[in-house]
Amino acid sequence: MIGIDGAIIWANNAELKLLGYGERNEYVGKNASQFYADYNSYSNMFQKLNSGEGIHDYPIRLKCKNGTTKDVLIDSTVAWDDDGKFLYTRCFTRDMTATDKINELRIAEKAKCQTLKYKTNFLATVTHEIRTPLNGIIGMASLLLETAPFTPLQKEYVETIATTGDFLLTLVNDILDLSKVDSGKMVIESIPFNIVKVVEDVRKMSISGAEQKGLNLLSLVDNNLQSVENILTSNDFSESIYLGDPFRLKQILINYVNNAVKFTAHGTVSIGIDIKKSKFAEDIDEVTLTVEDTGIGVASTVDLFEPFSQADNTISRRYGGTGLGLSICRKLGRLMGGETGVRSTLGQVGIFTTSSVSPSISPTL
Ligand SMILES: Nc1ncnc2c1ncn2[C@@H]1O[C@H](COP(=O)(O)OP(=O)(O)OP(=O)(O)O)[C@@H](O)[C@H]1O
Ligand SMILES: [Mg+2]
Repeated sequence: MIGIDGAIIWANNAELKLLGYGERNEYVGKNASQFYADYNSYSNMFQKLNSGEGIHDYPIRLKCKNGTTKDVLIDSTVAWDDDGKFLYTRCFTRDMTATDKINELRIAEKAKCQTLKYKTNFLATVTHEIRTPLNGIIGMASLLLETAPFTPLQKEYVETIATTGDFLLTLVNDILDLSKVDSGKMVIESIPFNIVKVVEDVRKMSISGAEQKGLNLLSLVDNNLQSVENILTSNDFSESIYLGDPFRLKQILINYVNNAVKFTAHGTVSIGIDIKKSKFAEDIDEVTLTVEDTGIGVASTVDLFEPFSQADNTISRRYGGTGLGLSICRKLGRLMGGETGVRSTLGQVGIFTTSSVSPSISPTL
């Protein structure tokens, strides 16, 4: 069993014997990656598990205590708790040294990895190349808008170029982010940051969009943290400094708030943070970021966190969008050791991400 931080939580005697470990503490408690001979296959396996796929007959080579290696087949599943939070990964290992099946499976797995790699590299390159000329088009359209006077029709045309360009840029950036995560190139930072400020920044960025629709936009902070106002006036950030990736947490929240504003006609959108000690490691806290709204709600059985999925096929026509935002949030949340989910009834929806952050030892912000 492997925990949220990659450490082995438990192993049975057969596994210890297979790899030649006599004492349990030579194996249990260590980071699992150090027992895999090929790091790429190891990270590919965890990427599959993180994306919710179970692993069956996955061929992999493990390192034994005496320096030799063992070919094994792994069956693996992830255990989530009732709130959709990651608990641990359960792996069953079968010794397959010198069997034909392992060679066959290894060749097939390598071919699959290669195809996936070509696909994600192709997407990453193409989207990256599209971004430069697209920025040129958007930039020129906004400069053109400043060269008035225009006839109303000319103004409408230029504004359409600018808004369509913005839409295309968001789509290209989303595809680039997805292919970056899929190719294992998305790096999650671990830097000191103020979690309350993350929420406040997102609120400030989104307030004008919410006000244009007549919505209230609130930020609700966990009782253990000081209120945003207190922190900002006293300049004392010490209670809310954590180590983690503020940029990616903001990206998740912005996606949620944009959705909430888009799908709500009246009422309130609120952003909440809740922080708890992790059950798995003393030095890790779990932060849950939730955005709630009083909009159309989600009555769909579709997994909205899958790429290109929307509640039904009228959504794109009525509200715009391509169904990529939530899938990026799920992938980022999982890279940060967390989970994402929806709690919804018609008329009230809350979308959340839980991720791991460490309390910062030396606040520097
Ligand atoms: N707050 C919400 N209220 C109601 N439905 C929601 C909400 N957030 C997401 N959804 C549903 O989940 C779907 C997927 O959301 P997602 O953010 O991935 O895509 P999108 O907003 O349609 O497009 P994109 O984010 O790519 O511009 C939405 O199309 C909508 O059906
Ligand atoms: Mg969206």
